[in-house]
Amino acid sequence: MSYMSETDFGGKVALITGATSGVGFETAVQLAKRGATVVVNGRSAERGKDALDRLSEHSDHVRFEAGDCGDYDSIAAVVGRVVRDLEAIDIVISAGAQGEFSPTPFEGMTGDQIERAFSSRFFPRIYPVHAALPGLRVRGGSAVMLTTDAARTATSGESVMGAAGAGVILMTKTIAKELASSNIRVNTVGMTITSGTPSWDRIFGSESFQQKLFDKALRRFPAGRPPAVEEVVNAVTFLASDAASQITGQTLSVNGGLSFGGW
Ligand SMILES: NC(=O)c1ccc[n+]([C@@H]2O[C@H](COP(=O)([O-])OP(=O)(O)OC[C@H]3O[C@@H](n4cnc5c(N)ncnc54)[C@H](OP(=O)(O)O)[C@@H]3O)[C@@H](O)[C@H]2O)c1
Repeated sequence: MSYMSETDFGGKVALITGATSGVGFETAVQLAKRGATVVVNGRSAERGKDALDRLSEHSDHVRFEAGDCGDYDSIAAVVGRVVRDLEAIDIVISAGAQGEFSPTPFEGMTGDQIERAFSSRFFPRIYPVHAALPGLRVRGGSAVMLTTDAARTATSGESVMGAAGAGVILMTKTIAKELASSNIRVNTVGMTITSGTPSWDRIFGSESFQQKLFDKALRRFPAGRPPAVEEVVNAVTFLASDAASQITGQTLSVNGGLSFGGW
């Protein structure tokens, strides 16, 4: 089988959480263009309608399911509707998690902020993968989560978000091990500051500690620029595809050589 046919998603059902904008939406475009039936998720029905309008330029096989990935019952209900109507889930891309609290030095955080900064990033990432397992078991499948490179490389101001991301990396390996014999792969893409995303717009939209932090980071990219959204999407799409059929439990960083976090 050629590389191109292995990255053809014809006949596959893909659920992409956090897909009404940003990396999730651009991944939805790629999968829809390559033949998948794509279910996009987000919390806002209005943003969902707007995303569907834009996606329908590429495919008729797209739908929106509203749900909050940080609420297990809500995302399990999304999965239930997808499996009821489409019989199985072949691909889950877990991209929906708007973290509470931007980068803040650890000492400056309150106990409540520490808890919310962690849980708003960790649970919305893993709940969809857990909820989708009955759907993934029908034909075997692939899950791809997003995480932050602050999970691999100590980054000032990102202690708690790095810890949540490190949890995602370790769970990627452990879940992959548990599910390999069921023909379900689990991988993660590590992200740094990425242009063309809503996170980028939020960070550089106003003067702040995090805007100063990332201004410094921008000057350190070896190629003179940070990754762009489509470069992250290429990695996500590859890991979701049959071209990655022997790859599981891995975290692939898309960071242009900014860092080489080793685990
Ligand atoms: N872009 C970067 O530079 C960067 C770097 C490191 C990590 N990341 C992580 O990568 C992910 C994607 O980032 P992004 O900048 O492309 O987009 P983003 O603005 O973080 O996410 C946009 C999408 O996620 C949905 N969403 C947010 N919280 C959700 C929830 N709890 N349940 C369901 N959907 C939810 C939004 O729709 P609704 O608001 O309608 O729900 C929207 O569709 C984020 O988790 C982000 O933290 C991004």
